[in-house]
Amino acid sequence: MLDPMKEVRHAELRQFAKEMEEVCQPSRVRWCDGSPAEYDELCEMMVAKGTFHRLHPDRWPHSFACNTDPSDVARVEDRTYICSRKKEDAGPTNNWVEPREMKVRMKELFRGAMKGRTMYVIPFCMGPLGSPLSKFGVEITDSEYVVVNMHIMTRIGRSVIDALGEDGDYIKCLHSVGAPLEAGQNDVAWPCNRETKYIVHYPEDRSIVSYGSGYGGNALLGKKCLALRIASVMAAEEGWLAEHMLIMGVESPKGKKEYIAAAFPSACGKTNFAMLIPPAEMSGWKVTTVGDDIAWIKPGKDGGLYAINPEYGYFGVAPGTNARTNPNAMATIRSNAIFTNVGVTPEGDVWWEGLTDEVPKDVIDWHGSPYDPKKGGTVAHPNARFTAPARQNPCIDADWENPEGVPISAFVFGGRRSNTVPLLYQAFNWNYGVYLASTMGSEMTAAAFGEIGKVRRDPFAMLPFCGYHMADYFNHWLQFGRNLPKPPRIFGVNWFRKDDTGHFLWPGFSHNMRVLKWIVERINGEVSAIESPIGWMPKYDDIDWEGLSFERKEYDRIMEVDREAWKTEILAHEELFSRMYDRLPKEYFLLQQLLLSSLWRSPEHWYLEAERI
Ligand code: OXD
Ligand code: MN
Repeated sequence: MLDPMKEVRHAELRQFAKEMEEVCQPSRVRWCDGSPAEYDELCEMMVAKGTFHRLHPDRWPHSFACNTDPSDVARVEDRTYICSRKKEDAGPTNNWVEPREMKVRMKELFRGAMKGRTMYVIPFCMGPLGSPLSKFGVEITDSEYVVVNMHIMTRIGRSVIDALGEDGDYIKCLHSVGAPLEAGQNDVAWPCNRETKYIVHYPEDRSIVSYGSGYGGNALLGKKCLALRIASVMAAEEGWLAEHMLIMGVESPKGKKEYIAAAFPSACGKTNFAMLIPPAEMSGWKVTTVGDDIAWIKPGKDGGLYAINPEYGYFGVAPGTNARTNPNAMATIRSNAIFTNVGVTPEGDVWWEGLTDEVPKDVIDWHGSPYDPKKGGTVAHPNARFTAPARQNPCIDADWENPEGVPISAFVFGGRRSNTVPLLYQAFNWNYGVYLASTMGSEMTAAAFGEIGKVRRDPFAMLPFCGYHMADYFNHWLQFGRNLPKPPRIFGVNWFRKDDTGHFLWPGFSHNMRVLKWIVERINGEVSAIESPIGWMPKYDDIDWEGLSFERKEYDRIMEVDREAWKTEILAHEELFSRMYDRLPKEYFLLQQLLLSSLWRSPEHWYLEAERI
């Protein structure tokens, strides 16, 4: 525990904590030192309270499982606000309330909100300590679950307080589960506020206030709230990028390494891609992970782009993760992990849909009840998560904590589309790549709100995470590219295309290495491409098929650019554009017209004709 009077030299920070204490009226205040002893003590406390269940000490050393309240299982996008001073700066895709009005509402909610609880003060750093790209934050919370997850997901404690010194800048983050305890009232295993939840950002103040939820992105405020929503505003002002992107290294058999940043909407297998193991036949190729969710990217002195992962751990979706889909994730979560909303067996093993073929006997489901298949439902919640330290990833990149970041040579954008969008294509240029990323879409799954299966436009996979007007964000990307002497290449991918019988056409997972190889060869100018109406595409023979039987006709199917479907697709972009027409880059209308006309002009079987040339 830190002693604020002796160890915290930052008077303004001590004042902030004091003011929050006065408003929230906790029983105790504790400044977190970030030590392993602190982590263990809080985990023990949660075991005693019934929040945490200790897992089998040999098979899952130092690991715990817990279940949330059924009302608190995911990010709450409809309760997330960007309270910029002007409504138009939040834009049409964010909820907005006038900031002074919101502050009054928050003050009322937070008055006495921590009664009977401990108020923890967590100094944290997003990014490696000492990196010019990193940012500090301080989260005040009344949740032990938040403290231990922040231990894994960020760098916290004494070293951060020392680095902050007397007057370092930091982002203020206030969080409460919104469940004060009256004298003598017993706590529940997962305190939260079932009726009232708010995730509020004040971009001009650079501060975050979250109330009512203890779950993931709603409560671990360094992640989506700071590293994306607030950071995206700072990035636009300061000339850098804060993106919902993984960062991976791809090393060729010759030992040449390229770093790629890739954006996929939630629940599109980002963590699996970031930890990919190439198929055995592609020996010599190697993938390493810098980050699995967020990238902060800045131009370097040499004109190149350099990226850091601001996080320190993974908060990944558990269902579907197994020894085949992601062996590196399985190794990463073997120890020192926290599992949220998974099933637990009487022996102390965890289980989720897709982990093994059989549901284990006597498994307890995420509601804490013996699982009864006759009643339907799943053992794990579809958005069940693991939290685990990034350093435990067997394929962690040697430079993942390099304070200067890693050089980025390409951006990859991919949605979840069962039709229309081909497996792989390359944007003709930066502006068109920005258009491609702005219009990407994803068919909805459990992690997002909306009708399952419907396409939700999710520009840059940033729709829920952009802290300002989305069209201003597009303009920022265009301007950013104009200033780069050698902008990275931009690619589109889609692992999720299906055939007419509803089966996935692409085997995915390790085979995505075949796509990566072509991307790397394109970056290095080692392979030519075919000009399709929507971008450059690989020739069948330029993809490495060693060890995979994927016939020419299957390839034609997965690469097909169906004219009618694409006309409908491009016209459907209007739905997004019309919402932000006044600030939309004027280039977009031209790009849209160019795309439409190239579809009209191209021969029906452009692909076959082009390949013959
Ligand atoms: C996440 C998300 O949790 O994108 O990473 O929803
Ligand atoms: Mn994410």
